[in-house]
Amino acid sequence: MQRLILKSKNHRAMKQREALFRRFGYDSAASLKFVIAKALPLPGHVLEIGTGKGRFLAAMAKHADRITTLDVDAKQQRAAKLHVHQTRAGRRIRFVAHDAEHLPWPDAGFDTLASMNTFHHLERPMRVFEEMLRVLKPGGKLVLCDFSPRGFQIFDRIHRFEGGTHPRLKHGLAGFGRTLRRPGWKTRRFKGCNQEILVATAPPAPTKKKNHT
Ligand SMILES: C[S@@+](CC[C@H](N)C(=O)[O-])C[C@H]1O[C@@H](n2cnc3c(N)ncnc32)[C@H](O)[C@@H]1O
Repeated sequence: MQRLILKSKNHRAMKQREALFRRFGYDSAASLKFVIAKALPLPGHVLEIGTGKGRFLAAMAKHADRITTLDVDAKQQRAAKLHVHQTRAGRRIRFVAHDAEHLPWPDAGFDTLASMNTFHHLERPMRVFEEMLRVLKPGGKLVLCDFSPRGFQIFDRIHRFEGGTHPRLKHGLAGFGRTLRRPGWKTRRFKGCNQEILVATAPPAPTKKKNHT
């Protein structure tokens, strides 16, 4: 009963927040739909960086078999749990509260790495990006998404309206795309619905030479 009340309180709070975003020109549902369409498929075990309130997580859960989601803030993850349970997607999701600068997994353990609207909140985004690459399997997929310049303008206005400020991601996603200009990487970039997306595929593992003796 208590959980049901918490779930509907959380749902109401998220809907109110989304209504405010819409007034300023950001449509959360349309942005998620756009990002998911560019991100699909989401193969294998997906690791999400930056759970937040779980909007991207709930959208991915409709398409992914298994997701682990990481956020440094356990309070955000409690809200995200309520949100994904509301959407009945919770069973295949594991929540981990940890700093993304030091991912608590060995190298090459995940098939897909994904993150939405989180990188502008990171103190050292390149450090986190390198960690994401470290835990990605050869041949794995990377989906990195953040606001477009227009999206950042909208969130600047929302936060100013609320008496605060909103961080920006210096140079957008361009720097991360440049980092992947390495042999074997395939990258694509998309822009739409106030979002920028980088979708990349890592080179496959080198095949072992057969020893003919
Ligand atoms: C705007 S929210 C992410 C939104 C979320 N992806 C969604 O779709 O609802 C950004 C999140 O990044 C998390 N974060 C910031 N720095 C972090 C770090 N070093 N490691 C892990 N999470 C971090 C914050 O706690 C916050 O929950």
